[in-house]
Amino acid sequence: MSLFITFEGVEGSGKTTQIQRLKKYLTRKGIPCKVTREPGGPPISEKIRKILLDPDHREMLPLSELFLYEASRAQHIKEVIKPFLKKGGVILCDRFNDATLAYQGYGRKIDCDLIQKLNRFSSQGIEPDLTLLLDCPSDLGLKRALQRNRISKNEKEGRFEREKIQFHRRVRKGYLAIAKKEPRRVKVIDTRAGEEKVFEKIREIVDDLLVRSSQFGVRS
Ligand code: TMP
Repeated sequence: MSLFITFEGVEGSGKTTQIQRLKKYLTRKGIPCKVTREPGGPPISEKIRKILLDPDHREMLPLSELFLYEASRAQHIKEVIKPFLKKGGVILCDRFNDATLAYQGYGRKIDCDLIQKLNRFSSQGIEPDLTLLLDCPSDLGLKRALQRNRISKNEKEGRFEREKIQFHRRVRKGYLAIAKKEPRRVKVIDTRAGEEKVFEKIREIVDDLLVRSSQFGVRS
């Protein structure tokens, strides 16, 4: 059985914590599981991540940004995602194609049709079986993200956190529009319910997917 699960959400939506919890849960069930992220994954994509998130790169054009996300993804798919899915197991990926549509499309206002074409191209036929959209109001998420960066002293990853609140609201609107268009794949979870409740919901959704995939083979 192979499954590709992606996590999406605005800044500070708590994806990292929930991904780690789900990984533990699946591992306890004896299911091989790999956590990865975008931008990032293999060494080349991690280098691209550094370029993308460096707050000193103020001159970066939206189009350069878009191509770098797509480049990171092409490498990630080829080196990590495809080989793992072939072996069998569950991939938990922190952001994927939807992030490009929400951030570069809705956030930066680049043509959404162009982004969808590029996404299809870079992801080489791989699509998520399930996307968990961890949702919260943009102001709350941003506050959490800024707090987290201060605590971890992770000031080098702050290029997006510095964007104006209007940008983050457009991103959230984009994510919710994607979820509305693809309700079977994208499940929206309100993170204001708190970490425990959010995980309960995730477990319910993933258990259901596991049952369906063992009965009908969602992917293989
Ligand atoms: P992270 O902080 O969740 O690891 O994500 C890194 C940042 O990159 C986050 O601000 C969202 C942004 N991003 C895009 O703008 N487009 C994309 O395609 C992806 C994958 C992430």
